[in-house]
Amino acid sequence: MRQKIVAGNWKMNKTLVEAQSLTSEIANMAEDEAPGDVQIILAPPYPFLYAVQNLVPELGTIQFAAQNCHQEESGAYTGEVSAQMIKSLGAAYVILGHSERREQAAETNELLAAKVNIALDNNLKVIFCCGESLDIREADKQNEFVTNQLTESLFHLDEEAFKQIIIAYEPIWAIGTGKTASSDQAQDMHAEIRKHIAGKYGETIANSTSILYGGSCKPSNAEELFSQKDVDGGLIGGASLKSRDFMDIIKSF
Ligand code: G3P
Repeated sequence: MRQKIVAGNWKMNKTLVEAQSLTSEIANMAEDEAPGDVQIILAPPYPFLYAVQNLVPELGTIQFAAQNCHQEESGAYTGEVSAQMIKSLGAAYVILGHSERREQAAETNELLAAKVNIALDNNLKVIFCCGESLDIREADKQNEFVTNQLTESLFHLDEEAFKQIIIAYEPIWAIGTGKTASSDQAQDMHAEIRKHIAGKYGETIANSTSILYGGSCKPSNAEELFSQKDVDGGLIGGASLKSRDFMDIIKSF
């Protein structure tokens, strides 16, 4: 049985007080409403990562993630944050390879392989983002593009290491646009990703890997998306900034 996961990627939003309020709202709602078999992950901006954790009574159903980490252990990297720092803050996860970072910080598949390694070396679980641009989708080249992202950044890992990986398929053309992938498009790509993982690591690991969908996932479409055979949850942007919307998505399984 695969873990169902709903993760909220807050991106570069909120002030400290707003982050604390949002965390408390979600924690209170989760206590009364969240299904017990759904792992909730909150990914606030770095500055808030420590401050918000004490607002969650018991780190279990709700865990925390950083939105990135540097590829080196430590050193002269002004402004950067390391995997060991993130782990020391009590976060259990790190998001890597988000398309916004691939574009804005020129993160290549090779660099992301190094980030994956250092995250795993520091006992962080990785939410690894992949996804194609609109021009690749319109050329019907999305399958080879996305599977190549996984091959180049993840397939150097041994089986034990790969078990710490969660995949987030986020078609770039659906992120922040309100243009969600159809449930068929999501299911087709998730099945392709799972088949690609099985080809490398075997059916058992492929069938136990959680594959999340991201890209304009909202309370109005989450139930249909999450009902797809190979969709194990969502990586949520805009809707994760509103506690009611985020909880309604969590309840959509
Ligand atoms: O990482 C999740 C994010 O890229 C999706 O954003 O606003 O389309 O839900 P959004």
